[in-house]
Amino acid sequence: MSTAMERPKKITTHVLSEMKMKGEKIAMLTAYDYSLARIVDKAGIDVILVGDSAANVMAGWETTLPITLEQMIYHGASVVRAVHRAMVVVDMPFGTYQGNSREAIMSAIRIMKETAADAIKLEGGKEIIESVNRILSAGIPVMGHLGLTPQSIHKFGTYTVRARQDDEAKKLVEDALLLQEAGIFALVLEKIPAKLAQEVAAQLHIPVIGIGAGGGVDGQVLVLHDMLGINQEFSPRFLRRYHNLYAEIHGAVGNYIQDVKTKDFPNEKEQY
Ligand code: KIV
Repeated sequence: MSTAMERPKKITTHVLSEMKMKGEKIAMLTAYDYSLARIVDKAGIDVILVGDSAANVMAGWETTLPITLEQMIYHGASVVRAVHRAMVVVDMPFGTYQGNSREAIMSAIRIMKETAADAIKLEGGKEIIESVNRILSAGIPVMGHLGLTPQSIHKFGTYTVRARQDDEAKKLVEDALLLQEAGIFALVLEKIPAKLAQEVAAQLHIPVIGIGAGGGVDGQVLVLHDMLGINQEFSPRFLRRYHNLYAEIHGAVGNYIQDVKTKDFPNEKEQY
């Protein structure tokens, strides 16, 4: 297993493939802005996903559906400007690739040209395979996403675990194999039984990155704001919180308000 010291400067699709072969786990997090992406990259993350979860955590929408291509490009370009080592993957937002493959390729090209990201991610299997093929034919690396695909929340009706039933599990495996055959470089599996995710990861030669999909896959992804504890309302079983940033920020802002109100801030040294 290679160490951080031996790792190459820039993480590419080739590096991720090697990591899978060597059994080295891939660490992926979301980021949507320059300042946090800079810290996440410097900390040594392998992949940064500019997720359409920006619709939830940055914009306060209930679902990921409202975010636009322009907004994803804004977030993507902000992240790319901050990152030197990690691979940057930008989510294609709802409505920019499902309709037809021509729209899909035009949307993907806009993301690649206007953000300078390394790859795009999209949700779904057989039903979007024409779009996947067209994007890949332009030389754009594609990351797939199966299981709980939040852009289909109105079809599912719930954010509960997917593919518990045999028919849905069978379709998921078929979709994973189809996407791999098409040429995607990695696959995200969201909120499915750990045993199924492990089976998919064992069957595929491309890296499989899980969120709420257990430890038997090739890597893990979490939403940065969730794992930092900025967002306190969201606490699914799969989420490990590494910090309570909500409390830290709340406390710091409270102290600032008090200092202003009591005229403690600014003091003599803090003025000209
Ligand atoms: O948008 C996002 O943050 C995602 C991850 C949950 C995988 O797609």
